[in-house]
Amino acid sequence: MGARLLYLLLLGLLYEQPRGDRSFTIDDDQNCFKKDGVCFHYISGSIHYFRIPAIYWKDRLMKMYMTGLNAIQIYVPWNFHEPEPGMFNFEGDGALEHFLDLANETGLLVIVRPGPYICSEWDMGGLPAWLLNKKDIVLRSSDPDYLSAVNSWLSVLLPRLRPRLYNNGGNIISVQVENEYGSYHACDYSYMRHLFHTFRLYLGDDVVLFTTDGNTDRELKCGSLQGMHATVDFGPADDAKKAFDLLRRYQPTGPLVNSEYYTGWLDYWGGNHSTASPQMVSHGLQTILEMGANVNMYMFEGGTNFGYWNGADYKEQYKPITTSYDYDAPLTEAGDPTEKLFALRSVISQFLPVPEGPMPPPTPKYDYGVVKLQKVGDITDFLDILCPGGPIVTRYPITFEDAKQYFGFMLYRTRVPWEIPDMTSLSDPFNGVRDRAYITIDGSFTGVLERDHVRMINVTGSAGDWLDILVENMGRINFGSFVNDLKVKCITH
Ligand SMILES: *[C@@H]1O[C@H](CO)[C@@H](O)[C@H](O)[C@H]1NC(C)=O
Ligand SMILES: *[C@@H]1O[C@H](CO)[C@@H](O)[C@H](O)[C@H]1NC(C)=O
Ligand SMILES: *[C@@H]1O[C@H](CO)[C@@H](O)[C@H](O)[C@H]1NC(C)=O
Repeated sequence: MGARLLYLLLLGLLYEQPRGDRSFTIDDDQNCFKKDGVCFHYISGSIHYFRIPAIYWKDRLMKMYMTGLNAIQIYVPWNFHEPEPGMFNFEGDGALEHFLDLANETGLLVIVRPGPYICSEWDMGGLPAWLLNKKDIVLRSSDPDYLSAVNSWLSVLLPRLRPRLYNNGGNIISVQVENEYGSYHACDYSYMRHLFHTFRLYLGDDVVLFTTDGNTDRELKCGSLQGMHATVDFGPADDAKKAFDLLRRYQPTGPLVNSEYYTGWLDYWGGNHSTASPQMVSHGLQTILEMGANVNMYMFEGGTNFGYWNGADYKEQYKPITTSYDYDAPLTEAGDPTEKLFALRSVISQFLPVPEGPMPPPTPKYDYGVVKLQKVGDITDFLDILCPGGPIVTRYPITFEDAKQYFGFMLYRTRVPWEIPDMTSLSDPFNGVRDRAYITIDGSFTGVLERDHVRMINVTGSAGDWLDILVENMGRINFGSFVNDLKVKCITH
C-alpha cells in the first residue's frame, strides 16, 4: 500500500513537470514569473546582434553579465535574414543561433522578439522591402499576401528557436508577438490572433508569449490579446506607478513588466545627439525594481546601423535615423562601459547579487591617421562597373522596388527635351523624391531636391543634354501609418 502511494505520488510529480526540473511560467496568484518553480524577476538589457560585428558579441555579453543583468532582450529582423523571398541568411552577423549560444555560455537568459514587425529604428521596421512589390499590400494586417509571406518566414524562424526555449533545455524564457501593435492604425485582432496561433503551433503551448505596448488605453486595447501576457514600455521621465496601474486594467494578474525602459534615445540626421543622465536613468530603474517589477533596459548597447539598414520616423516630416545607434546607452556604440553602466550596476546590486570580478575594459582603439580621399571620377564615369547589366529603359520612372534594387542610390537619366535658356523650375509637385535627389545637367551639379524640404530648383540646359537625377534612399519609415514607404521618383518639369 505504502509503495503504491509513493508510486502514485511520483507519477503525479512527473506528470506536472514532464521535462524534468526546467520550467518557465507565469504565476497569477503570486504575480511573478516562476523559473523552475520559484518566483523569478528579470533585469534585462536590449542588445541587437545585427548592429554589432559578430567578433564583439561575446565581449558585449560579458559586460552585460558583469553589470548584474540576468537576461538580455533581442529583436530578430526579418529583412536582414530573408533579403530575397525564400533566400535565408543565418550566417556571419546574422548567426542568431551562435549568438544565443554565446549568451547561454555567458550565463544570460534571453527574451526574444521575432516580430514579424520590430520597429527598432531599422529599415521598414524589419519588414522586407520586397513585400512592397505588391503595391497596395496592407502591412501588419490580415492581408492574405502579407500573411502568406509572414507564415513562410515564421515557418523557418520559429522551429530554430523551439529547441532553445527554456522548457526544452535552452535559455529563451519568453517570446514577444508583434511589437507595439496598439500604436498601429490597423488594430486588426484577426491578425494578432493569427500570429498567436502560429507562434503556439511552432513553439508549443507552454512557452510564455507576451505583447508590449505604450502605456495608453488605445495602445493597450489594440495591442494586447487574451492568451498573451501584456507588458508596457516607458522611460525614466514617466510615472512608473501610473503606467503599471494602467497596465493592470488590461493585465490584472501575473508579473509587472516594463519591456522597454529607455536609457537614452535615438538620433535623427541634422539633430543633436540624444542623451539621458545617469542619475535620472538609474533613479528610474530603482523605482521600477522597488515595485517588484521586471524590466528590460532599451538599449543596453545600441551599436551601429551598418550599410543602409537605418530606418526613419515620420512626424510631420520625414526624419531619417543616423548610422550611429549609440542611443546614449550604458555601453557606448564602441562597446565601452560608461558612468551610466556603473550607476545602474550599483542600483542592481541592491536587488540581485552582482558577479564578482572586474568589468572587461573598453575595446582597444587604433589610430588610423589621416585618411585622404581622392576623387577618381564622376559616378557617370563608372556606370558599366556600377551597373554591369546596363540600364533599365522605361517610359516613366520606376520605383527602387520595381527595379528590385531596394537600398542605396539609383540614377535616373533622360535627355533635356528642348532648349531651356532661362531659369526654369524643375519641380517635384507630388513630393515624390524619396528621399534626396542630386541633379546634374550635362555633367554639372545643379542642386538637390529633398523630400518634404526642397520641392523645386531652377535649371537651364540645352536640348539633348543629359539630365541626371541621383536618388538616395535614406531609409524606410519604421513606425506609424506610413510604413509602406515606396522609394518613388516622380519628377515632372
Ligand atoms: C547552456 O549553458 C549551460 C552551462 O551554463 C550548459 O550546461 C548547457 O548545455 C547550455 N545549453 C545550450 C543549449 O547550449
Ligand atoms: C542642438 O543643440 C544646440 C545647443 O543646445 C541648440 O542651439 C540647437 O538648436 C540644437 N539643434 C537642434 C536641431 O535641436
Ligand atoms: C526660380 O526662378 C524664378 C523666376 O526666375 C524665381 O522667382 C524663383 O525665386 C527661383 N526659385 C529658386 C528656388 O531659385
